[in-house]
Amino acid sequence: MDTMEVILTRRSVRKYTDNRVSEDLVEQLLRAAMAAPSAANEQPWHFVVITDRSIMAQVPSFHPHSHMLKQAALAILVCNDSSLELMKGRGVLDCSAATQNMLIAAHSLGLGAVWLGIYPVEERMTGMRKLLNMPSRIVPVSLVSIGYPDERLSMEDRFKQERVHYQRWMGSAEDKVKKAKKE
Ligand SMILES: Cc1cc2nc3c(=O)[nH]c(=O)nc-3n(C[C@H](O)[C@H](O)[C@H](O)COP(=O)(O)O)c2cc1C
Repeated sequence: MDTMEVILTRRSVRKYTDNRVSEDLVEQLLRAAMAAPSAANEQPWHFVVITDRSIMAQVPSFHPHSHMLKQAALAILVCNDSSLELMKGRGVLDCSAATQNMLIAAHSLGLGAVWLGIYPVEERMTGMRKLLNMPSRIVPVSLVSIGYPDERLSMEDRFKQERVHYQRWMGSAEDKVKKAKKE
């Protein structure tokens, strides 16, 4: 697949086979994540690779949309180390870029993955910190559930011309509908 095809056909995969994922592939996912852009090139991220099923199985107790972890071969927690931030508040954005790189790489390597949101939900952040014994300066941003896909989701075309503006903000048909509803 070329890069555009990988980007356009990526979907969240929540069902996995029992196959394990090799250490080499895990390293490739981490390399892709760490190749992401970051504010002032601060690279404030840390990654926790979790293959222990007994740890993954505890996440649904504080995260209601994470049941696929019971089947996953591994999960990678993307964390922002706030002490490494050169530009305050940017670390979470950097970690989001790293997460997306990891999802794209997973799809390109034949793996299936889904982004589980941790930040900014307090209960999930506290739950992750407790579960993995993390210091409070570390902000868990996203948990990526990974395995070999046991479902095939078709590509969705999400292109919306009305969300595109040229040169300046143009009142779109959508704005007009919203305005009419308010009046
Ligand atoms: C910030 C963020 C948080 C998300 N959190 C969850 C989650 O907790 N559980 C889950 O199953 N999917 C989660 N997703 C995946 C979205 O549901 C999914 O990306 C969206 O429905 C679009 O589908 P697609 O990824 O197949 O294109 C999250 C995605 C993002 C970007």
